[in-house]
Amino acid sequence: MSEPTVSPAVEPDEPPFRTVIEPFRIHSVEPLRMTTAAHRRETVRAAAYNLFQMHADDVLIDLLTDSGTGAMSRDQWAAIQHGDESYAGSPSYFIFRDAVQELFPFKHVIPTHQGRAAERILFQAIGGAGKVIPSNTHFDTTRANVEATGAQAVDLVIAEGHDPALVHPFKGNMDVAALDHLLGERSADIPCVMMTITNNSGGGQPVSLENLREVSECAHRYGKPLYLDACRFAENAWFIREREPGQGGRPVPDIVREMAGLADGMTMSAKKDPMGNIGGWLALDDDDVAQACRNLLILTEGFPTYGGLAGRDLEALAQGLKEVVSHDYLRYRITSTAYVADALGRLGMPCLKPAGGHAVYLDARALLPHIPPLQFPGQALAVALYELGGIRSCEIGSVMFGRHPDGSESPAAMELVRLAIPRRTYTQSHMDYVVEVCERLMAVKNELPGYRIVKEPPALRHFTAEFEPLG
Ligand code: F0G
Repeated sequence: MSEPTVSPAVEPDEPPFRTVIEPFRIHSVEPLRMTTAAHRRETVRAAAYNLFQMHADDVLIDLLTDSGTGAMSRDQWAAIQHGDESYAGSPSYFIFRDAVQELFPFKHVIPTHQGRAAERILFQAIGGAGKVIPSNTHFDTTRANVEATGAQAVDLVIAEGHDPALVHPFKGNMDVAALDHLLGERSADIPCVMMTITNNSGGGQPVSLENLREVSECAHRYGKPLYLDACRFAENAWFIREREPGQGGRPVPDIVREMAGLADGMTMSAKKDPMGNIGGWLALDDDDVAQACRNLLILTEGFPTYGGLAGRDLEALAQGLKEVVSHDYLRYRITSTAYVADALGRLGMPCLKPAGGHAVYLDARALLPHIPPLQFPGQALAVALYELGGIRSCEIGSVMFGRHPDGSESPAAMELVRLAIPRRTYTQSHMDYVVEVCERLMAVKNELPGYRIVKEPPALRHFTAEFEPLG
């Protein structure tokens, strides 16, 4: 295979140019289907106003998720051709393992088909009834996999992380005093501490190296391993380089290795920063836990040198890991997310601040105060973005979190709509269009109706619930 073609770190010219360009050119294109407003109104009605139920080719700009939706590079497609599909001991596994260990030098690297499989296996091995697993904020699948074992998932993000309008450089940080307190009270029940980097459920917000050091020290003082949920590790490392005193100018791979060195293991969805359309892994140092995890892996994912993946997928991820730590890429990635947030801010659109790495989160409660939380302002905003401009976003509010296991319903802490930006997929003009659709939405926001749910499943209702506009 040819040498990786990631450009070496080149700092911007002095004085830097204002325009941060996409550090790639387009080699293969996918058509987008233009639709009319009448067609979109009909399509979303037919999908019972649930954007998860739409056919994706009725969507013009798909910002539902940044997971598995990125564009692979020429070198990743070449790596796919190099994949070796041997059941056991495939050379593709060793290429993948070496690429993971280059950044995350954990002893055991166990591939899985995606992040939640790594979570299920880890928590089956170390969770269980009566256990407690603290994190800054558990992602939904992490929480669900902790709870599925009978354990309790506890979120301990700093207070600043709960205030959408507050600007703080590391809103994903853990409240270390609260962690220390919990470990002091429940040490015997706590099998590990988790850190989600970046903190997706808290707005794609980063964790500082300083906080990670303190969390690592605190966990280890109680003899507990620290695991990273590291899906967006490269974006997190870039924020550290940009925002943390003393870190400017450091190569991102060094920052990543320091983050990994503070932890004892990780779960990973390779559908995010590793630039895969599918994939994940679990990596850790502990031999006994690794053995237990490999045994669980074999039950449902596959032999330990492929997990749930094909050899070709493992090679694409190995190449993606080299590309994602490129400074040119990360500068473009973080700047282009902030570009959307800044443009929306100029329109007066309330957004969670500061912009996250992978997404911009609109604050539907602040935008649509005439819609009460249980008439789902986030859903109203998400449906309007689709009807007006064919943009698919994701409600993260009372539809997603409002229904509780005991059947009761209460408003979520925040009513957000996430515009998640797939990696290397859309250009600046696509994003200018998104901003223009938001501008048009601002002009009609007072006319948007609330929604009621006419049908819902007992759990995870946001995927399949059916809605009806009110009034
Ligand atoms: N952890 C975090 C922080 C995530 O954001 C995700 C997925 C997972 C774990 C699970 O990984 O999907 O590969 O099983 N997040 C996607 C999203 C689904 O849209 O934010 P997975």
